Amino acid sequence: MITLIGDKDSKRTGYFLKAAGKQGVPVRFISWEKIFKGFNYRVLEGAAVKIDPPSYKITELGMMQESLLIYQNILKDMALCRCTFLNTPEAILNVLDKRAAKKELEKHMLPVTRMVSENVNSASQLIGIMRDKREYSVFIKPVNYSGAAGVAAFRLNPASGRMKLYTSCRLDKGKLYNTKKLHVLENNTDIINIIDSLAGMGGVHKMPGLIAEKWYPKDSFNGKSYDLRVVYQYGRVSYIVVRQSDGPVTNLHLNNQAMDFKELMLPENIVSGIEEICSKAVAVFKGLNMAGIDIMLDKGSRKPRIIEINGQGDLIYQDIFSDNKIYSEQVEMLSGKA
Ligand SMILES: Nc1ncnc2c1ncn2[C@@H]1O[C@H](COP(=O)(O)OP(=O)(O)OP(=O)(O)O)[C@@H](O)[C@H]1O
Ligand SMILES: [Mg+2]
Repeated sequence: MITLIGDKDSKRTGYFLKAAGKQGVPVRFISWEKIFKGFNYRVLEGAAVKIDPPSYKITELGMMQESLLIYQNILKDMALCRCTFLNTPEAILNVLDKRAAKKELEKHMLPVTRMVSENVNSASQLIGIMRDKREYSVFIKPVNYSGAAGVAAFRLNPASGRMKLYTSCRLDKGKLYNTKKLHVLENNTDIINIIDSLAGMGGVHKMPGLIAEKWYPKDSFNGKSYDLRVVYQYGRVSYIVVRQSDGPVTNLHLNNQAMDFKELMLPENIVSGIEEICSKAVAVFKGLNMAGIDIMLDKGSRKPRIIEINGQGDLIYQDIFSDNKIYSEQVEMLSGKA
């Protein structure tokens, strides 16, 4: 039997149950709703457990941070249970922190999108750093959000001082909201306000911080840039989806197009290079058996580079609506069949 923690009506739950049903494996489902109300974690002792993330309807970034802190505390409690986890709560927490995870990957000599600043606290401080380092194009990211929440691509013209910002965030009456559309801002005052808000957001709890990375130009296919979401689990690549976009941010919920990896027809050495860095990256984090890894290929050289690792990044529509391979493999592994 497998224990699945998740949201009742989510695609993740539905398709995991489908995969388990097909293999005749019983699943004990525990909803986040129940857990948030108070839960005795002892019932998990000895079980084979998959923890899916709770889905939030919240769009305000400050509130999102509060929910995330509650979630992180629950994961810390769950970590005390002796279970066979698909990914341990510690591993999920460790990769959730984009700053710490990036440092860990760099320590192991893995190619990553490098940080220009580990702690952005205002627009003017960031601009100072960009000028000092002569890095005029950066990606700004809150350290532990996902789904492109709070992510912004920022460009500064060093001679004219003109700025451009691509973000799905909207600032309204001093609060930041996550939207499902990428906006382009070209007014310096508006841009500075957004960056300052992202850096200084607090609400009741303090923000975990904001990092800035060098903005790397990506390889393109048929005139559109793309990156890859690689689902790597139990020592091999399970699925790769190509995310094509007109803009700098490729996340699929932002109206971008998914494409079959085979269509790229990448040469064998690049494909094996991607597999190799995924395998090494997952090995860096103890207790991580599955990861959704965002990989970009540098424009020109097509050298693979890790953008980030998601400890719960296994929901791929292209897979669940066809073979449901990712969840089927997880059911096999967790039920001890493989
Ligand atoms: N340094 C960078 N250079 C070029 N593109 C980048 C860089 N960082 C991020 N991106 C683009 O922005 C997207 C979102 O960034 P990132 O994956 O870090 O955010 P996220 O919110 O955690 O996304 P999700 O959790 O949905 O995967 C990436 O998939 C990539 O297309
Ligand atoms: Mg990502």
